Amino acid sequence: MAARLRVAALISGRGSNLEALIEAARAPGYPADIALVVSNVAGAVGLGHAAAAGIDSLVIEHGAYPDRESFDRAVDAALRERGIELICLAGFMRLLSPAFVTGWLGRLINIHPSLLPAFKGLHPHRQALEAGVKLHGCTVHFVTPEIDDGPIIAQAAVPVREDDDETALAARVLAAEHALYPLAVRLIGDGRVSMHGRHARILGPAAGDGGAVFINPGSPSVPDKE
Ligand code: GRF
Repeated sequence: MAARLRVAALISGRGSNLEALIEAARAPGYPADIALVVSNVAGAVGLGHAAAAGIDSLVIEHGAYPDRESFDRAVDAALRERGIELICLAGFMRLLSPAFVTGWLGRLINIHPSLLPAFKGLHPHRQALEAGVKLHGCTVHFVTPEIDDGPIIAQAAVPVREDDDETALAARVLAAEHALYPLAVRLIGDGRVSMHGRHARILGPAAGDGGAVFINPGSPSVPDKE
């Protein structure tokens, strides 16, 4: 059996996506291990999920560094020392410097709670409600120096209901995130994702339409690799 991909999750808070990844990685045959959790916030709730699962965690507080670059260098060194192969941003509320992003290009992914390229940046659920879209969702993408702009690996769509407010819509999207992020990491761990300029390609039987994968919350349409 191929070695499992060593994954680090970078968090700042609640860590529910981290929890979903930890849970997924427990499944036999899952091709990735959550080997490290890094938080830039001491006391982040997500650190408790790491502790409960016996996963190494580090707190690297950005306030302890004079600038973004030196903080990023400390995170970079910690990840490299531990042989990390893939970084999952999971509610990590710091912008990463171009030097960091370039150094991990193709091995650094993020989940954003909208169907990118719609509703980049802050308050995507509010933006979706204001725009009146009928479908909203979430996206896992490679991180590039432009915010919320990298090649799209996988997307999940959820319906917007007439009576939705930001809280209700965010909860429905979050449930989809918890299915989508583990699915995207599985695709990467299985060696099925490659980056070609602005596009991520998914290799194999359930390649989907043009490289993105559509799922309904809780019911991934991508079968496990045989
Ligand atoms: C998620 O909605 C994620 O898409 C966004 O930040 C939120 C983090 O939530 N990037 P959690 O910390 O994983 O619970």
